[in-house]
Parts: sequence; C-alpha cells; structure tokens
Amino acid sequence: MGGIAVIGGTGELGRGLIVHWAAAGEKIVIGSRSREKAERIARELSSRSGRKVVGATNRQAAEAADLVVLSIPFHSLESIVEEIRPALSPQKIILSVIVPLRFTREGIFYDPPPSGSAAEEVARLLPQCRVVSAFHTVGAKQLQQQGPVPCDVVICGDDEEAKRRVTELIRLIPGMRPIDGGPLRNSRLVESTVALLIELTRRYRVPGVSIRFEGI
Ligand SMILES: NC(=O)c1ccc[n+]([C@@H]2O[C@H](COP(=O)([O-])OP(=O)(O)OC[C@H]3O[C@@H](n4cnc5c(N)ncnc54)[C@H](OP(=O)(O)O)[C@@H]3O)[C@@H](O)[C@H]2O)c1
Repeated sequence: MGGIAVIGGTGELGRGLIVHWAAAGEKIVIGSRSREKAERIARELSSRSGRKVVGATNRQAAEAADLVVLSIPFHSLESIVEEIRPALSPQKIILSVIVPLRFTREGIFYDPPPSGSAAEEVARLLPQCRVVSAFHTVGAKQLQQQGPVPCDVVICGDDEEAKRRVTELIRLIPGMRPIDGGPLRNSRLVESTVALLIELTRRYRVPGVSIRFEGI
C-alpha cells in the first residue's frame, strides 16, 4: 500500500492534479465508476506526465492507497462514499477538494450541507478517517496549463500529520504555496469563496482567478 488514489480523477480537476503529482514521482491510481474509463485516462496522463499512472474502479483505487482524494461533484458524495467505505481503514487520509455550489439564473451560490461544508460532511460520513480539505480555489484550467501555477492553497484539517502530508503535495506543484487554514470546520470559509472566484473568472473572461494572501 501507499500512494494516492484520486476518486473522480477522470474529471477536470483530478486530471490537473494527477499530472503534476505523477511528474513529481508520486504513485497515482485513478478511481472511476468505470474501470475502462479510468484506464483510458491513466494512459493519457501517463503520456503527459512521463510517469506510469494506473486506472481502477473507485473501490480498488481506495484500497490501494494511503491517501484518497475525493474529486467528485458534491451531489455524488454519499453514493461514492458507500462504494469505497469498505476500503477505508481508520488511518487513511481523505483529501476533499469538493465545493458544494448551486448554479441558478440569478448566479452561483455556495450551497453547503447542514454540517457546514463539504469537508465536514465527508468527516461526518467517514468518522474513522483523517479528513483534510484543500485545492478548492485552484482552477482546473490553470492546473492543465504548462508551467507553474502561482497561487496560495489553504489547508484545513484536525490531524496535523495528515495536514503535513497534504502540505507536501501542494509544494510538489510549482508556484503553489500551502497556507494553514486551521481546523476542518474552517473549510466552510474557503469553500464559500469559490462562487466569487468563478464569478470573477466569467466577468473578466480569463482562464481562472486564484488567491494570493498578502502579509503572510
Ligand atoms: N473544476 C475546477 O476547476 C474545480 C476547482 C476546485 C474544486 N473543484 C471541485 O472538485 C470536484 C471535482 O470537480 P471537477 O470539475 O473535476 O468535476 P467533474 O469533472 O464534473 O467530475 C469529476 C468526476 O466525478 C465523477 N462523477 C461525475 N458525476 C458523477 C455522479 N453523478 N456520480 C458519481 N460520480 C460522478 C466522474 O468520474 P467517473 O465518471 O470516472 O466515475 C467525473 O469524471 C468538485 O466537487 C468541484 O466542486 C473543481
């Protein structure tokens, strides 16, 4: 065991993260509802990163790794958790990048569950795991471009060792600076900024808008 499983790594954000982490030497397995789809995307990302990336079902991917990234839409969280639950032994680290948003004609709104945020919902569903949240404010398009990704990435979590592991993953992506955002409940502060970033991306017609904190 060891390495990183990216559940939903076939999608926009997951693919961007995987290329950087694989190129930096991390062992990556992509999880998908379809093994064939995961293997196809794994071949594509192996060729882009120059390193071998493996594809599997969500459950197999979660079994194979000690760190499991949930890179899926919020509305699919419960069903995916049920799929991978048997593979999640107590010490596994779960990294949530999920942002619960509602898109309406009036605009984009942060739409959190009663627990307060996607990350806290993951912790509620998986109390045996160490949950960390990060990467919410990083745009998939920026990650997919060649070269550094200059931005700050806020990490929230209640387990310091798990946060350190995610901090290292942020440092592997050139240009990114990890910022300690405190406990997991603070993830709601970070997740809620994403609606504004998407609004600004559309308004200024740019590939993506990210965050840099002055004074830290
Ligand atoms: N895109 C961004 O720029 C960005 C930035 C920051 C955070 N995020 C957050 O990161 C997460 C992933 O974003 P994304 O843009 O990569 O999403 P996405 O491309 O729409 O979906 C990611 C993967 O989730 C799985 N999935 C999609 N619909 C599903 C469903 N109904 N049930 C179960 N699985 C489903 C699919 O994998 P399989 O079909 O292979 O199973 C898909 O490839 C989201 O929560 C998003 O809010 C995104």
